[in-house]
Amino acid sequence: MSDQPLFTPVRLGSLELRNRIVMAPLTRMRASSIDHVPTDLQLEYYVQRASAGLIVTEATAISPEGFGWADTPGLWSAQQVRGWRRVTDAVHEAGGRIVAQLWHTGAISHPDVRNGAQPLSASDVDVQHQTVTPKGRKPTVVPRAMTEEEIRQTVGDYARAAHNAMEAGFDGVQILANYLYLLAQFLNRRTNRRSDRYGGGIENRARFLFEVVEAVLDEIDPSRVGVKISPMHEGGPFAANDETLPMAEYAIRELNGYGLSHLLLMGNTTDFTGTPLEPLMGDGMFHHFRPIFRGTLIANTGMDAERGNRLIETGFADMIAFGRPYIANPDLVERLSHGAPLAEVDWSTVYGSGPQGYSDYPSLRLAAV
Ligand SMILES: Cc1cc2nc3c(=O)[nH]c(=O)nc-3n(C[C@H](O)[C@H](O)[C@H](O)COP(=O)(O)O)c2cc1C
Repeated sequence: MSDQPLFTPVRLGSLELRNRIVMAPLTRMRASSIDHVPTDLQLEYYVQRASAGLIVTEATAISPEGFGWADTPGLWSAQQVRGWRRVTDAVHEAGGRIVAQLWHTGAISHPDVRNGAQPLSASDVDVQHQTVTPKGRKPTVVPRAMTEEEIRQTVGDYARAAHNAMEAGFDGVQILANYLYLLAQFLNRRTNRRSDRYGGGIENRARFLFEVVEAVLDEIDPSRVGVKISPMHEGGPFAANDETLPMAEYAIRELNGYGLSHLLLMGNTTDFTGTPLEPLMGDGMFHHFRPIFRGTLIANTGMDAERGNRLIETGFADMIAFGRPYIANPDLVERLSHGAPLAEVDWSTVYGSGPQGYSDYPSLRLAAV
């Protein structure tokens, strides 16, 4: 197809992948709104993108308690497992590989999507963000701090979701540990004010993440388990502080010990200038963490073929994940290999409903007809 590094085969844990292009996880809100089961539309959308070396699904709730965003899918019920099985079978038939991204929204939720219940988090700190309810976007509220018993149950919910993912035919799972969601709320000093063994210093705040990883590894071989994590600078309590980088370094260094399939590392999506993360802007993120993480490193954010090829060639990444480009380019692999132009995203339909702006972006061949 092409002798560019992006198009060379690669071994990811126990999987042989035909290229080094990853479809990054993208929440698109096309699951059924009542029972959170993947729909035929999602099946069609993922099959259209099956030429990626690996697809990471949209964030998928591990439990009713972890569900916090309207019209997103789950992985806790038999019906959801059956729905996902149809998707994974179809992707495999099309020659693709697909892993499920495991999600607990924590405080990025709202009583409106939780039958009136207060969202859960590490502590009662409002993350000052927005979430999507059936009635549209709403500001987050003050969450309730989880009890130790609830933490134990949640660790168990991750394990059950991982088990369900294998029942549903996935090639593995990816644990979502960054952005602003539950695991990140435990890692961040400003949203974790606990005084028990899950709060305080860096090691205590990371304890929940490692308990989750270990519980998932009780269900699935490490060669099929990845983690998405990276230091970020966002609004409110998620503004980068002097512990953001040391925490990410500690967590990523410790993850080495588990022999995981991969680490998905996001570059900066916001301007790090003037923050402790400033040296990590651009490729700085990958230069910093490549020597720390010894397994397969997937670099993400603002990639194009030239940058992706360079990062692989220079050894700073093993694979490259594309998020936004996959929204409007189901045949991204073919387009990149031919140096063809990329279609633009219609942002008004990204979080819409139905096929428009979802499964109706044409592939290049169709676009040319
Ligand atoms: C519409 C949209 C939805 C996203 N949903 C998720 C998600 O469900 N899980 C996740 O880890 N990241 C999510 N992301 C982040 C992307 O996976 C990716 O990390 C980010 O867009 C940067 O990559 P890019 O520059 O190639 O788009 C989302 C991004 C966008 C634009």
